[in-house]
Amino acid sequence: MSVKFVVFVLNFLGCNYLMSGVASVFPVVNPVQRSIATRKGSSVTLVCFGRNVNPLDTMSVWKFKGQVIKQGGNKKVRTRWLPGGTGNFSLHITNVSDKDVGQYMCSLSVANFNKLDVAESFIKLKLYSSVRWPKGTYALPMPVSGCPKGKKALWSEGFLKQNTEDTTPLSNWSRPTHLKGLKKNNVITQHFCVKEKKSGSDEWPAGKYCIFKKGKCPPGFEEGSIKWDDEDTKNDNKASGVLPDGDYGKDTVVDFCCRSDGSADKPIELPMREPFFLLKHSSSCQLVMGMLVTEEWVFWDCEDKENKNLVSGKIPESFVAKDVKLYYCYYIEK
Ligand SMILES: *[C@@H]1O[C@H](CO)[C@@H](O)[C@H](O)[C@H]1NC(C)=O
Ligand SMILES: *[C@@H]1O[C@H](CO)[C@@H](O)[C@H](O)[C@H]1NC(C)=O
Ligand SMILES: *[C@@H]1O[C@H](CO)[C@@H](O)[C@H](O)[C@H]1NC(C)=O
Repeated sequence: MSVKFVVFVLNFLGCNYLMSGVASVFPVVNPVQRSIATRKGSSVTLVCFGRNVNPLDTMSVWKFKGQVIKQGGNKKVRTRWLPGGTGNFSLHITNVSDKDVGQYMCSLSVANFNKLDVAESFIKLKLYSSVRWPKGTYALPMPVSGCPKGKKALWSEGFLKQNTEDTTPLSNWSRPTHLKGLKKNNVITQHFCVKEKKSGSDEWPAGKYCIFKKGKCPPGFEEGSIKWDDEDTKNDNKASGVLPDGDYGKDTVVDFCCRSDGSADKPIELPMREPFFLLKHSSSCQLVMGMLVTEEWVFWDCEDKENKNLVSGKIPESFVAKDVKLYYCYYIEK
């Protein structure tokens, strides 16, 4: 293997390394996961894979906050040499606490004459309890348990009652439902948790899911809307409090923000202290780390006469014709 090629491989894999002289075989190291979130008190294993390594002259160490981790306490280092000059370098941490949170580094060094060729790679360990709601303004469906609680009051609340078709009323919903609000065959009430402040440190993660629009869609989302043609005769729709962007009168328009820039099967990180809802984007609900997900739906029996239901832009998984069916994803801690 030429040096050029080795350098290319290292750059391509995004590793940090120090080049010392001209080596024929540089060690390469890669984390299996770059970021791990876990629960307080749980056990976790950080794993790095190395190539161009061998038990004779490769030294491996794990570092935490710049210090070499010594065997013992709640941390156990393990090295398994595998065929083909590869190796599995793992760090097992038991009873994870706040003290263990931070950046870990696995470092491999190979003696090359009187110098060391070093390859390093980083893994970030977080506690779920430190994950915050992403920044930006948006709204989520409110579960029966209420808006997720945080250290600070994060959510404004509002509700929307839609008077759906009164003649042979067929509005319906999945049961049991965890969506807050009175529902009858001619009434669908939804409650909303609305984040009006831009505060937050992280962006919404890539994936396949939707939220309600409030102000500008956060980065990565595309907007869309659904118009519900509600009951025309003696309509008693009611909207109160803080609501997602839309138009709330005798008919209803609600705006959405949807994204489809990642796999729904790759769990994303969101706060897991309390139950919450996202809206389903397509064939399956987005997975969220540490949370169990179930799908729920609501069916609005819309005005039968000269129905004016309408969709535009990107909207959640739905069925919209003369009636509207919308799919939700409900999350509770595993
Ligand atoms: C690497 O080692 C860790 C800890 O011994 C183990 O849990 C993991 O399954 C190993 N992975 C592979 C692919 O060998
Ligand atoms: C886990 O760590 C906490 C402190 O963070 C300690 O109070 C507790 O006794 C530990 N539990 C075990 C099983 O070691
Ligand atoms: C509501 O939906 C359930 C499940 O799909 C169905 O069994 C039931 O007949 C529906 N009720 C009405 C009034 O459409």
